[in-house]
Amino acid sequence: MAMNYFHKLLCRSALWERASATKIVPWALSGLDLGASALEIGPGYGANVRALCRRTSTLTGVEIDPVLADRLRTRHGTAMTVIQGDGADMPLPPRQFDSVVCFTMLHHVPTVGEQDALFAEALRVLRPGGVFAGSDGLDSRMFRLMHLGDTCLPVPPENAADRLTRIGFTDIEIETGTTSFRFRAHRPE
Ligand SMILES: C[S@@+](CC[C@H](N)C(=O)[O-])C[C@H]1O[C@@H](n2cnc3c(N)ncnc32)[C@H](O)[C@@H]1O
Repeated sequence: MAMNYFHKLLCRSALWERASATKIVPWALSGLDLGASALEIGPGYGANVRALCRRTSTLTGVEIDPVLADRLRTRHGTAMTVIQGDGADMPLPPRQFDSVVCFTMLHHVPTVGEQDALFAEALRVLRPGGVFAGSDGLDSRMFRLMHLGDTCLPVPPENAADRLTRIGFTDIEIETGTTSFRFRAHRPE
């Protein structure tokens, strides 16, 4: 989950927040109802907090980096309940959230096994019928270049539906754009 210096600068910039809040989040969540309680895995610097608060009344974030978790508490503590922890092993009870979301973070999870564990955790904390949704970058030479020295394991969109099905999700949609893909998957009723 390491981020190189350039990547950190980008992720904490106003430019990134605007791009994420006005392009990535609206595309990833288009037509979806997040319900009353939503969980964001890997909120980072909090670029999506305001956009998510417009879509749900109770927002929780699980961030693995303790420095970023503290920063989120200081800056967004009234908007989001921040928990420092691993999305692949969350200190949360089951069936708690109407929705679980994540944006531009899956490729920072270093192994396929841990990515699948994160998907399984998303399923576990969702209420039956709840939705897991988000987006992540597509693999490319530019994407790899931006992540030099970082953890970078892009999720291939072509097998994402199979992976999510194996975890137990249903009603799965994957859509590939030019530089990213979006996904949505439901916990069976
Ligand atoms: C590139 S940043 C994206 C941050 C934010 N989602 C955004 O769209 O601006 C990836 C974030 O995911 C966090 N992260 C990586 N692995 C994680 C895990 N297993 N559980 C929770 N957070 C994780 C990183 O610490 C980092 O804050």
